[in-house]
Amino acid sequence: MDKIRERLLAEVEKSEAPRETLKDKELKSLAEKIKDLPQEERAEFGRQVNVLKREISAAIEVREHALLTAPLPPLDLTAPTDINMPIPGDKPYGGRHPLMVEMEKVIEIYNRLGFGVIESRALDDDYHMFETLNFPDGHPARDGYDSFRTKEGLIPPAHTSNMQNRILKAHKKDLETLGYISYVVPGRVFRNEDVDATHEHTFYQCEGIFVSKKATLSNMLGVLKRFFELYYEQKLNIKTQPGYFPFTEPSLEFLIEKPKSLGGKKGDYLEMLGCGMIHPNVLKMAEIDPEEYKGFAWGGGIERLVMLKYGLKDIRDFESGRLRFLKHFR
Ligand code: DAH
Repeated sequence: MDKIRERLLAEVEKSEAPRETLKDKELKSLAEKIKDLPQEERAEFGRQVNVLKREISAAIEVREHALLTAPLPPLDLTAPTDINMPIPGDKPYGGRHPLMVEMEKVIEIYNRLGFGVIESRALDDDYHMFETLNFPDGHPARDGYDSFRTKEGLIPPAHTSNMQNRILKAHKKDLETLGYISYVVPGRVFRNEDVDATHEHTFYQCEGIFVSKKATLSNMLGVLKRFFELYYEQKLNIKTQPGYFPFTEPSLEFLIEKPKSLGGKKGDYLEMLGCGMIHPNVLKMAEIDPEEYKGFAWGGGIERLVMLKYGLKDIRDFESGRLRFLKHFR
């Protein structure tokens, strides 16, 4: 019995589940042995078995208490980590949204063409959304933007042109140091649209703005053609048609011929963005002299760009959070 005691007590001391020790086979067989013993030995033997069981139970309690109060292994908070690192053995648990991946490609191309990047914002005011863009109060073209408005009169921007005045003002010094202002503005925009396969109330745009003493419309068309050719990785035919925006004069719509490789036929032109020469009033609002400086600007939707590239049919997929859609891009 002493051997069993020694063994079981040693076991309890090391065990992570000490209570299991009570199920030990030898311990159980001790109790069973009692009935086989001669009558006069039974009481003493039984008492000893009970003492042993109590000893083990006490040791279990000590061990359980020790396990409960043991300090956890220290966490190394300085260990190198990356929140996007796959967890070993775990299934892939997420990825970047296709629009963000494409937006990065768009920005990278404009960077290569010499444009800096300034992000838009989630809430703006009437002044930047309309007034600095030559839409005076009551101008009918304001209605075309179907803008939302908060109770306080603020506007979730309905286009990325809302950043033009800020950029022109903040980077006026570029005109002296570099001779030009050149930025693109990616941003999320919001319109009170009826949603269908080609219209969303929340979507993305990328705006571009360039000002210098000699900026011309043909410079602009060159930049835009180059951008689309780099994005679609092929030569493209382009054309323009007249458009109307209060903040450009002249105003144009820029179209590309849908490439054969993307299911297009000859003469199949798609409108990709709005553009034009920056209206003198817009330059004046930023205290830039329109007699001395000229500029061009453009703005277009990102979803349309991406849908053409991947042959997507329903713009609503982007904001749907549907895994079946998102997994295509993993
Ligand atoms: N903001 C216009 C829209 O959302 C697009 C646009 C047209 C932007 C002409 C421009 C521009 O910068 O010059 O419909």
